[in-house]
Amino acid sequence: MAYTVPKLTDYSAAALEKAAGECVRACGEEAAAVRSEAELKAFRDRWLARKSGILTLINDLWLKGAPKEAKREAGIQVNALKARVTELVEAAHVGGGAASFAAESVDITLPGARRPMGAEHPVIKTRNEIVAVFQKLGYSVAEGPVVETDYYNFEALNFPPNHPARDTQDTLFIAGQQAKPQRERLLLRTHTSPVQIRTMEKLRPPIRIVIPGVVHRNDPPDASHSPMFNQIEGLAVDTNITFGDLKGTLDFAMKALFGSSVKTHFRPSFFPFTEPSAELYVTCFICGGSGKRGSDPCRPCKQTGWIEVLGCGMVDPNVFEFVKDNGYDPKRVSGFAFGMGTDRLALLKYGVDDLQLFFQGDVRFLEMFG
Ligand code: PHE
Repeated sequence: MAYTVPKLTDYSAAALEKAAGECVRACGEEAAAVRSEAELKAFRDRWLARKSGILTLINDLWLKGAPKEAKREAGIQVNALKARVTELVEAAHVGGGAASFAAESVDITLPGARRPMGAEHPVIKTRNEIVAVFQKLGYSVAEGPVVETDYYNFEALNFPPNHPARDTQDTLFIAGQQAKPQRERLLLRTHTSPVQIRTMEKLRPPIRIVIPGVVHRNDPPDASHSPMFNQIEGLAVDTNITFGDLKGTLDFAMKALFGSSVKTHFRPSFFPFTEPSAELYVTCFICGGSGKRGSDPCRPCKQTGWIEVLGCGMVDPNVFEFVKDNGYDPKRVSGFAFGMGTDRLALLKYGVDDLQLFFQGDVRFLEMFG
């Protein structure tokens, strides 16, 4: 029942109080029932309109109609009532009353919104594992630019200008560099080895560093090639470093990465910046070195039982000549270097058969490593 202003006959304090209380309660109930902007406006007008709003009516009926001796008391009561009702009307808003609390409230017992957890990318995971193995051996991490000069990528690594060894790394050159002297021309580094030179320019020997990073070569993408891939380089320089140190270090690292049962094997190779140079093979950790998986041939090692994992060698004295002034006199110091393909190792480690999967960002693939 909508509230209507009653006429008062009894002007005692108790009766006034009761009438005021009923009025405030009615106003509060109406405020709680407001469901739209239009209803809100109607509600405000009904209570506050100057001409025939409820407060105006109360003023007329209760104050003006009060007998002389009750006027004072009625005045106090009506003023208090007006203040209360005005407050209620002004606080009212759409869906604002107690009745709408249920709709607005939050059920704190419901399970939360689930955010899908990210996972480390398998290549990053592999990189971190490899770096951690060398950090335990006392190596620190160095990094260098991906856009590199011809000097650092080739010349200071003992690839003389026009030397055919440059052809083994299909290089992506930055366009418009012909006006510069060759050693200053920019290219996308084809390996992480330029950071060997950059680090030796900055730090005096002895040094032990690993260098993770992105490199580029003009190789069309297929299941085992990508124009962009990752490498991890290593460099140790001190007095009296021997090929035995190289073998011991890499044998230890391969066992830490692939399990203590793998065997290592070095084959002669060639890199302009190491002499002698070698390729490191480990026993295939898929077939255990047998070349077979059951009665099927083992594909990752092409049935040989061995997998090539990196290139390495003793730092060529010609390389030290470029940083001789920083303490790298080839008559006094020696060192070894190695470089491995992080993506390739991740492929082998996780038994993934297509390199492209690492770079396509397909969540269904990545979720397999979560
Ligand atoms: N930089 C060589 C490559 O990318 C690998 C390598 C690094 C070889 C260090 C020897 C020593 O093929």
